[in-house]
Amino acid sequence: VTLLGISFAIDSGAALVDRGTVVSAVNEERLSRKKFQSGFPLRTVAEVLRLAGNPPVERVVLASTTWSAPVDLDAQSFDFPDFQQRVLAIAGRAGVQRLALGSAFGVGLFRTVFGAMLEARLPAFRRALREMGVYAPITAVDHHRAHAAAAAYTSGWDDALVVTADGLGDGLCASVYVKRGSRLDRVAEVPCFHSLGVFYTYVTHMMGFKFGREGKITGLAAHGDPRAALPVFQRYVTFDAEKGTIRNLARGIGADYATLKRDLEPFCREDVAAAVQALFEDSLSAFAGHYLRKTGMRRLALAGGVFANVRVNQVLRELPEVDAVWVYPHMGDGGGAAGAALSAFYADHRLPATDRATRRLPTLYLGPAFSDADVDRAVQGLRGVDVKEVADPEVEAARLLAQGRVVARVSGPMEYGPRALGNRSILFHASDKTVNDWLNKRLRRTEFMPFAPVVLEEEASLWLSGWEPDHVAARYMTVTYRATPRCVKLAPAVVHVDGTLRPQVLRAEDNPAFHRLLEEYRRLTGLGILINTSFNLHEEPIVCSPADAVRAFDQALLDVLVLRDRIVTRSGEPEARAGRGT
Ligand SMILES: [Fe+2]
Repeated sequence: VTLLGISFAIDSGAALVDRGTVVSAVNEERLSRKKFQSGFPLRTVAEVLRLAGNPPVERVVLASTTWSAPVDLDAQSFDFPDFQQRVLAIAGRAGVQRLALGSAFGVGLFRTVFGAMLEARLPAFRRALREMGVYAPITAVDHHRAHAAAAAYTSGWDDALVVTADGLGDGLCASVYVKRGSRLDRVAEVPCFHSLGVFYTYVTHMMGFKFGREGKITGLAAHGDPRAALPVFQRYVTFDAEKGTIRNLARGIGADYATLKRDLEPFCREDVAAAVQALFEDSLSAFAGHYLRKTGMRRLALAGGVFANVRVNQVLRELPEVDAVWVYPHMGDGGGAAGAALSAFYADHRLPATDRATRRLPTLYLGPAFSDADVDRAVQGLRGVDVKEVADPEVEAARLLAQGRVVARVSGPMEYGPRALGNRSILFHASDKTVNDWLNKRLRRTEFMPFAPVVLEEEASLWLSGWEPDHVAARYMTVTYRATPRCVKLAPAVVHVDGTLRPQVLRAEDNPAFHRLLEEYRRLTGLGILINTSFNLHEEPIVCSPADAVRAFDQALLDVLVLRDRIVTRSGEPEARAGRGT
């Protein structure tokens, strides 16, 4: 039974689910090379089918975001200013808005109207799919159910509380589900007028960062003191313990934008960031805690763009009501395609419990891999580099890393979601704190959070305080941990000012080749830890093909590029250049 999931809003994509397991998944931006590409993802539909050997598709499932229903098949573009206008318009109008988007009735109306617009698009979608040989019927899954299903059915748990939170989708900004076996039942929902996600985005914007850059605030927050400005924020958003819901107290976030801005004027931006982050952590803890106590569940599965916030995830993991946390690694709307297909599969199929429990996300390496011929073609046109074929590229890469060189690695299938987990990564030793300046400059990024590390699972407790072998979420860089004193001393480059880090804990079975590289690096240096940052330039999607890699390597003036078993180095570079300079 193969289901094809498709999402077509921001960061559109496609995924194939075979008997309840995701077997291939890609986002359109990686193929179109345009960050957060939206529109109907024709390229990725073809790609996920090809990756799975073109199986017959039984059903096509759309991850609905009704507000993006008027999407055009041919107009594959996503304009951030345009989206920004839309969000501001939704957030900005007082009165009408509270009525329209603050009540169950309003949300229902909104969904009916936009649902009809989505319906009107179906014939065009159907025609496009038929051209690719897909004749299966098309259905749609509610936006927050797709988020929830993604988290629930990749958790590997039989029972769990599932919390979703994002900007908005299908009229809601958050929801709570109970997963029992294959069942997934909604127990609460929050209308999008009360969106914490939109509020956070709003403050991000107010502080001069672009939309989609909420991570900057999270990073900046560690530099500030939340106490001063928190009371200001508490006048705008609160958790209503009686009703178990999050409440936007403003007339409309946008309507009170000027007031909020004025109220925040006395505070430095670090303190503002710290306060909005604290508001976020407090409200979400209260929200999740309320339903954990109410349902008696002790395992928490999370999805939705809000849970890109790694600090929030740590706070939730540390709640007394929580035994374990799972964060679906492609938590934002880009991960909706897999969620929609999973939701549809489990709605129709009840699996035996023994089977269910093993359905943890098997791998995140769900995208395309490339051949030697692709690599050869990509390096052909390069000037001023040496290309050599090596018998053991992992050992060679480890040797170069131990010499202090920056190594970009493109090998094996591409990761699904916002994090590179070794196959589309830039690696460097974690001892040099200054790397956060000069490497970001070369990659044309500005960050307030240090690079994240990859650590060998065998050594995880040496670096991460409180880590336990069953902390599955830590394998995907979705949760922060407090650094151990050893980590602060030996790997200062990956430790944030608040003493936390955001690791990928690497097991041999998840990525044998990458694990071998890190093991070899440890053999040479004694340290089973490396910086692992995604291989992309500022504002560009993570590289996909060897050709993308070669282009980014050239533009960022990186030292070493590993493409499968080819090692590309800049000619005339001294061997131990320690990666410095520009
Ligand atoms: Fe969403």
